[in-house]
Amino acid sequence: PDVDVDELLALAERTAREAAELLLSGRRTSVITVDHTKSTPTDVVTAMDTAAEELIRDRLSSARPDDTILGEEGGSVPGDSGVRWIVDPLDGTVNYLYGLPAYAVSIAAEVDGEVVAGAVTCPPTGEMWTARRGKGAWLDGTPLRVNPVSELDQALVGTGFWYDAGLRARQAELLRHVLPRVRDVRRIGSASLDLCAVATGRLDAFYETGLHPWDWSAGILVAEEAGARAGGLPGRPPERRLTVTAAPDIFDALRDLVLTHGIEVVESPVVA
Ligand code: IPD
Repeated sequence: PDVDVDELLALAERTAREAAELLLSGRRTSVITVDHTKSTPTDVVTAMDTAAEELIRDRLSSARPDDTILGEEGGSVPGDSGVRWIVDPLDGTVNYLYGLPAYAVSIAAEVDGEVVAGAVTCPPTGEMWTARRGKGAWLDGTPLRVNPVSELDQALVGTGFWYDAGLRARQAELLRHVLPRVRDVRRIGSASLDLCAVATGRLDAFYETGLHPWDWSAGILVAEEAGARAGGLPGRPPERRLTVTAAPDIFDALRDLVLTHGIEVVESPVVA
């Protein structure tokens, strides 16, 4: 389709800011509680996840009625324009629930199956990461570059955990092997912020098993456009089984480590 990617990015950014305002005012004016749970009792949804997604769907479909929208809470609503939006209205729901200032709104725009623009914002800090395929990645307008780290034992590595107890036990086992091999590990609680942290040099690398496209679509573009490498299993793009993003010189070492000690996690039927 003949689309103006700058316009898609501007719409993503504008919409993410509006949803961020809604999330902030939700925390200011109401007590945030669990509305319902999804895959497991720890996989929580608040009324604000749903309200933010409704706002985003409304703004995107008003501006571009023929686009497909895939959202974490509402699933896929198909359109026929060749443009698909991939939306996480509240990435880091557990942090939001507890008032920890690390949650995000993530909106990516895909054209013919390729993510071309992405916006991730962290409402408590007001930071806005944006990226355009082939043009770069920015934090509040400043261009981003990953850290030039070349040894895994010098790397600060982010990760996250799934909501399933059995899979978590295996993720903990993998972590037991990763932790002694790196500078340290962080579990920020929002995958899109982890990916933006790699782009910003606040982390050197990130890996997780069990993520969904709405967690990674915008953040991977931000990280890649800042010079990071991203992938899944060898020869594959980031996927649900495995998402690895890292400064280029440590990418292979980190992925090999994960595959050596975590292949059971990666191959788990829970995340297949
Ligand atoms: C979660 C966060 C978390 C990651 C989980 C995700 P949600 O997203 O990104 O950091 O470890 O795997 O599901 O549920 O808060 O949108």
